[in-house]
Amino acid sequence: MPHRERYLFICTNRRPDDHPKGSCAQKGSEELVRRLKAAFVARGAAGRVRACTASCLDLCEIGASIVQEPEHVAYGHVTLADVDAIADAAVRGEVVERLVVFPPREAET
Ligand code: FES
Repeated sequence: MPHRERYLFICTNRRPDDHPKGSCAQKGSEELVRRLKAAFVARGAAGRVRACTASCLDLCEIGASIVQEPEHVAYGHVTLADVDAIADAAVRGEVVERLVVFPPREAET
């Protein structure tokens, strides 16, 4: 399978329920992965855009969190209600601005 145009890395890290940092899996990220994969298949884009599980992205407090590459943006507080918007944007090579918690830094001059 060739290198994809775009990747979404979805944190599926799970900590114990009483851990103070919480974790993305506790916030539904495992189902986010399944739904995003299905959304890319439904859009005929599974060969171009891939949803991947990831370990902790160090964005625990704002999870569920996703990093989209090559745009290099981080999404926070993602829920299942956001799946279609994320999938549509990723297929078009765009980002869902309302979910962006860390935009890419401007190139330093
Ligand atoms: S547990 Fe998901 S970013 Fe840390």
